[in-house]
Amino acid sequence: MTLKTVLAASAAVMMAGPVLANPQAEVLHWWTSGGEARSVAVLQEQFAAEGGTWTDMPVAGGGGDAAMTALRARVLSGNAPTAVQLKGPAIQEWYEETGLADISAVAEENGWADVLPAQIAEHMKCEGKWCAAPVNVHRVNWIWGNKQILDEHGIEMPTTWEEFNAAAEKLQEAGVTPLAHGGQAWQDATVFETVVLGIGGPEFFRQALVDLDPEALTSDTMKQVFDQMRVIRGYVDPNFSGRDWNLATAMVMNGEAAFQIMGDWAKGEFLAAGKEPGTDFVCAQTPGNGFLYNVDSFAFFNVDGDDKQQGQALLARLIMGKDFQKTFNLNKGSIPARTDVALDEFDSCAVASAEAMNAGAQDGSLLPSYAHGMALRGAQAGAITDVVTAHFNSDMSSDDAVQQLADAVANAM
Ligand code: GAL
Repeated sequence: MTLKTVLAASAAVMMAGPVLANPQAEVLHWWTSGGEARSVAVLQEQFAAEGGTWTDMPVAGGGGDAAMTALRARVLSGNAPTAVQLKGPAIQEWYEETGLADISAVAEENGWADVLPAQIAEHMKCEGKWCAAPVNVHRVNWIWGNKQILDEHGIEMPTTWEEFNAAAEKLQEAGVTPLAHGGQAWQDATVFETVVLGIGGPEFFRQALVDLDPEALTSDTMKQVFDQMRVIRGYVDPNFSGRDWNLATAMVMNGEAAFQIMGDWAKGEFLAAGKEPGTDFVCAQTPGNGFLYNVDSFAFFNVDGDDKQQGQALLARLIMGKDFQKTFNLNKGSIPARTDVALDEFDSCAVASAEAMNAGAQDGSLLPSYAHGMALRGAQAGAITDVVTAHFNSDMSSDDAVQQLADAVANAM
């Protein structure tokens, strides 16, 4: 071949530009309820619209315990998914164990640091590099009420646990199940942390469930928390054990129970069923002030193949895109992680959540949820949850519970 021919041939190849593989992603998550599935479909659709091929790997089980078990099996067998729903300190735990893909190029190119609250951005970093993309901010400390039931019985949403107990007694005497609850450990933990916040306040919550201060864990305040958990146990129906959280939400929706204490992913179920806040259901913060945050995010394992790596970069970019952050969160019941997404299309519960989050960031009551994996590493959070669910499902005394709590935490350190 003459030099001219060789140069022409190489120029043709250069003109073709880089060979763009088809972005691929196998995504492991646990969003399988009505509201959750509708929400994750937004990401799937956007990924496909940009030429991506999404392989869905949903692992049913609210709260994500089953999903994390499935993830560990996949990674240990050397077959990590391209992307995984992963949040809180579990991100850094996996980074330390296996490493995670560095998505700093996407984060810096799209100015994530300028549109994320510092507290959220910090959760997404591994040794200073961006290693996860945040999807939302869920608030955990919500109580949901069936408006018709509350109106019929002249009950306002409770602002103290005494008011909650009085309302529950009145409902129970009228033959109405006061509290819809799913008897799964993570749901018991969810109720527990809202009671810790309500009875002890934000500073006590931080001492007990973030700093794991033994004094706080064995304090009279913590005994009062377990006293209240014992009272709450008396307000659930006989078939609560093992019930999925979204079926408890459906009980409130259908008038089979008055209240549910659950994060605002429950609102995603109401919305998916066409229910209106203020008309069909009412939202209120659980008794006491503060904001227990639960930020869903996706992390990306180091995988081979341009197609998968391009899939990871595309997912990271889409997840933090303004359009996705609005559409996804309108469905999911959460608020955007990005601070520059207008909330004019969001409902009153979401607006109240954003206001409470901003207030919490100012007064120190913006706190990481322990029950949803934002405050502690797995072993420590699991130790607390084991005691909480054991107490809820037995006649364990509050004195015994606080001692077991302190012992369990000490053994998990
Ligand atoms: C949480 C998750 C929420 C919601 C909930 C129930 O851990 O952050 O997005 O899915 O579990 O499954």
